[in-house]
Amino acid sequence: MISLPNYPDLQVCVLAAGQGKRMHSSRPKVLHNVLGRAMIDHVLHTVEELTPKAIAVVTGHASDQVRAHVGQPANLEWVIQDKQLGTGHAVKQCEKVIRNVRDVLIVCGDTPLLRSKTLSDLVAAHRAGGASVTVLTAHVGNPFGYGRIKRGADGRVVSIVEEKDASDEERAIAEVSSGIYCVRHEDLFDLLHKLGNNNAQGEYYLPDIVPLALADGKSVETAGMQDCDEMLGVNNRAQLSQVEEKMQARIVHDWQMKGVTIEKPDTVRIEATVNLGTDVTIQAGCYLIGSTRIGDGCRVGPYAVLVDAWLDDDVEVFAFSHIHSANVGGDSQIGPFGRLRPGAVLGEDVHVGNFVEIKNSIIDRGSKVNHLSYIGDTDMGSYCNIGAGSITCNYDGANKHRTRIGDRVFVGSDTKLIAPVEVQSGATIGAGSIITKTVASGGLTLSERPDQRHVAGWQRPTKNKD
Ligand code: UD1
Ligand code: CA
Repeated sequence: MISLPNYPDLQVCVLAAGQGKRMHSSRPKVLHNVLGRAMIDHVLHTVEELTPKAIAVVTGHASDQVRAHVGQPANLEWVIQDKQLGTGHAVKQCEKVIRNVRDVLIVCGDTPLLRSKTLSDLVAAHRAGGASVTVLTAHVGNPFGYGRIKRGADGRVVSIVEEKDASDEERAIAEVSSGIYCVRHEDLFDLLHKLGNNNAQGEYYLPDIVPLALADGKSVETAGMQDCDEMLGVNNRAQLSQVEEKMQARIVHDWQMKGVTIEKPDTVRIEATVNLGTDVTIQAGCYLIGSTRIGDGCRVGPYAVLVDAWLDDDVEVFAFSHIHSANVGGDSQIGPFGRLRPGAVLGEDVHVGNFVEIKNSIIDRGSKVNHLSYIGDTDMGSYCNIGAGSITCNYDGANKHRTRIGDRVFVGSDTKLIAPVEVQSGATIGAGSIITKTVASGGLTLSERPDQRHVAGWQRPTKNKD
């Protein structure tokens, strides 16, 4: 972590009132996820790293949804923009909530790749340059859709021209506005009150404060950024996946620097919310989603999917396993093709093998369920061995029932445990049993088996010849 200065005299405004028409979605744009975190949360997380005096978030379209999602952090004020009349109009709505600050930093809610260091550098450049308005700009390969930075003969910025208002000549300009501004508080609202909407979209454009400030004899500066990817705005789903890809590369790199081996990094998805220990190996095609945490020394994959999964140290998850809202104790082994569903809680050194499904069950230390089994709504003690194809019949068609299994129980293959039922510690059940009553410890319990017959002289059929 780089440490940044604090900004107790800085107000941040986050613009998030737009619908995001180009997303074609019932969800407001800023609630779309980028690697497991809503875009607005990425942006808020970033601006909070500056420890500003306060953050105002402008919402309008589906503001209830946005507010419900974000909640109410202490230094955050909600500002409503009833009609989305443009970015300048959006900032103007913040006038009443901004008090006693030196500068206002304006960012958009749809640029999740932004880094706090970049914002800190912008504020520093703004203050060092003594400007009234400082715009963060970048040179990009494809400027389509962005406001273009127009400069005069002396090379100084004169205005910002939006895509829809630009002439062919202006569209060829490769320097664009990031939409991020640092503006002296004492000047900002004077400028915003002077904004007009005589443009292609009939909107009050924030970029128009640039020529207004210059006309007032105030200075306007631009500041560049090192990594122009940071300003990528998400306006449609193609840009959403582009931004996700860039953020994924960043997250992969960060984990690699912290001691995680990631094989075929282009094939994995590791969400921003995931936590990994050291000496973890993530193999090709893994999806690590949500609040997943992986302890030191674990090995996962290939093609495992972990959603809100917690693994203690030195767990091995073999290929194609699926773990969702489950906890796995240290030194355990899952899969290949293992499935842990919500509420599976495994102790240390538990083995769950191929084509085994565990749901809402506790399995204690050293127990093994290695082949083709279903264990649901079960409390299992330590050092049990559950034979291939054994099933807890937990559902009677209306209700779920629990199965209780003590320590050191041996369950023969293809046993059905009809819940509710108890198997006491030290019990042994013979293969193929159907268990409906308490199984006592010691001895052998097995249900009646059909007789085995022998048909002497029987011949295997042979294939008909046509
Ligand atoms: C905007 C800038 C453009 C810049 C680009 C960078 C303007 C007019 N254009 O264009 O110069 O290059 O960002 O990504 O500022 N919003 C509101 N209320 C409104 C309108 C928009 O809150 O009335 C919010 C949106 O929710 C969004 C942000 O402002 O988060 C930017 O709006 P958007 O429509 O995405 O602007 P762009 O066309 O990307
Ligand atoms: Ca945008």
